[in-house]
Amino acid sequence: MKSDKKIAVVDFGGQYAHLIASRIRRLGAYTEILSNEEPLSVYESYAGIILSGGPSSVYEKGAPLLPEGFFKTSVPILGICYGHQLLMKALGGEVVSSNSKEYGPAILEIQNPNSLLSKSLSPKTKVWMSHGDEVVRMPEGFKIVASSGNCRYAFVSNESKKQFGIQFHPEVTHSEEGEVLLRNFVNLCGAGSSWSISQFLEEQISELQKKVPVGKNVFLLVSGGVDSSVAYLLLAKALGKDRVKGLLVDTGFMRKNEVKDLMDNLHHVGFDLTIWDESAVFYRHLENEFDPEKKRRIVGDLFLEAQSKATDSLGLDSEHWLLGQGTIYPDTIESGGTKHSHKIKTHHNRVPQIEKLIQEGKIVEPIADLYKDEVRELGRLLGLPERWIERHPFPGPGLVVRMIASPETHPPKIDFSDLGLGAKKAEVKILPILSVGVQGDQRSYAHCAVLNDFTTNWNELDKSAVEITNFKREINRVVFAPGISTFSGPFHYTKLSLDKVHSDILRDADAIVNRILYDESIHNSIWQMPVVLVPVGLRENSYGVVLRPVESTEAMTANFYEMDRRILDRITKELLALPQISLVLYDLTHKPPGTIEWE
Ligand code: XMP
Repeated sequence: MKSDKKIAVVDFGGQYAHLIASRIRRLGAYTEILSNEEPLSVYESYAGIILSGGPSSVYEKGAPLLPEGFFKTSVPILGICYGHQLLMKALGGEVVSSNSKEYGPAILEIQNPNSLLSKSLSPKTKVWMSHGDEVVRMPEGFKIVASSGNCRYAFVSNESKKQFGIQFHPEVTHSEEGEVLLRNFVNLCGAGSSWSISQFLEEQISELQKKVPVGKNVFLLVSGGVDSSVAYLLLAKALGKDRVKGLLVDTGFMRKNEVKDLMDNLHHVGFDLTIWDESAVFYRHLENEFDPEKKRRIVGDLFLEAQSKATDSLGLDSEHWLLGQGTIYPDTIESGGTKHSHKIKTHHNRVPQIEKLIQEGKIVEPIADLYKDEVRELGRLLGLPERWIERHPFPGPGLVVRMIASPETHPPKIDFSDLGLGAKKAEVKILPILSVGVQGDQRSYAHCAVLNDFTTNWNELDKSAVEITNFKREINRVVFAPGISTFSGPFHYTKLSLDKVHSDILRDADAIVNRILYDESIHNSIWQMPVVLVPVGLRENSYGVVLRPVESTEAMTANFYEMDRRILDRITKELLALPQISLVLYDLTHKPPGTIEWE
């Protein structure tokens, strides 16, 4: 793993730095994330350097730069988005703010198929753009490799110096041949075959044995999800089962029958699991809260309180017991874990109290370097049953982030007629509530547009959703209302609290959806499917349910899932049979600009 043939990804704070690293690792090259403030000699010790995207503009005061002399290095460089603009500007090119920000798919046309980096790319290939600034002049020595309709210098290179700049994001799955391009880079750096998950397992076992010396043990907060289960198994393998204890805090925001199913399944694989019922406390503290960040902080703090009550009562003193967490890579980056990223949300594993314990060395996070698909691969190596590995990821704060208790808002008046949506058959309304999203690397808390069921063509729905979020910046999400061909009345707002009554409604809705997913055998083709309760219905004193199925490999980006309409009709019908539910909505937003969870 510690080969000298490794790739560095310089983190400029984008959502994408870790994603790039994960992609490169999957191509078999060990990859490390570096800040932009390392001494030159550090960068020069790598076989290749990738400059990531980021939220800044290169001409902004205080924009993150690289040390003097960086661009004179002979190490191959690939600049992506912000990294591309920085490379261009530093070498004498010009970057300007373009009139329209561009988020979404574009077609790249290759003009130089003989570039070291364009080898094996199709002449026309779909890529994902996400930028506000644009390169308008290249530095000397650079040539165009490919352009898109909106972006002339989308892909440029100086072949003899092995320096490359690209405006699009090859690391996201929306860029169809992104992997080919990244593999070309790994190959030209000679860095393949330096990393694998089985190497990681071996190394991590010996690291854990060092980090948790004999005499100390670990107790781990288990949620039942894949991450904490794999973290438990890894710790148990490294330290022995007797030194690892699992603790499940029942927050009252778990799914239907979850605690019982967990007990049955985890005991089966030899977990030592203790259940601590804290639901009454969680309901008391959360029932009047709606602000996403505040909800998360409360959950994080209450988790810690519950854990310290439980450990006291179980006699797990902090002298001998460290706290284990199943934190994975994306959990750390999106909290502003690296220097330049804007805060998207606070992960419950990263609230201030936990940060303090991390500083004090009292936390063990055995899979914090891994991405979800790597965690699953590791789970397989560790013998976790396949049915458990395949479970959809479930967020630690549970249904708290799937119950929207936002007060009623007055939606902005937006004219959508300029978009030409769905040849006039489409109607657009705006929900009187806010949800979290991520637009151009920054957190947004904005309104959601609702389309009528004007077409059964998913492409048409997709196109409308992309257009709305691209051109109407007050909107960060778009849903449609299956079965409602025209809106005949207004939406009704009904207050929703984070309490037992309302979480029970969501539990029932979520159980219906999950039963149908298994029954129709589509559970495994969906990566995750949040079912969200919103305080908006078609009649008074009723609520709406949002279906949010996504396809993703690593949660940093996602596509909404195109469900078979017959199955969607079945789900809609069964949900509308619940007495409190009068509206079903289907989320059409990719990530970005939406997040997966509504918060
Ligand atoms: P977003 O909503 O940011 O979510 O697109 C990305 C992925 O992370 C999961 N998630 C969490 N998982 N604790 C977790 O263990 C959390 O606080 C948390 N918040 C989001 C989310 O379900 C999705 O898979």
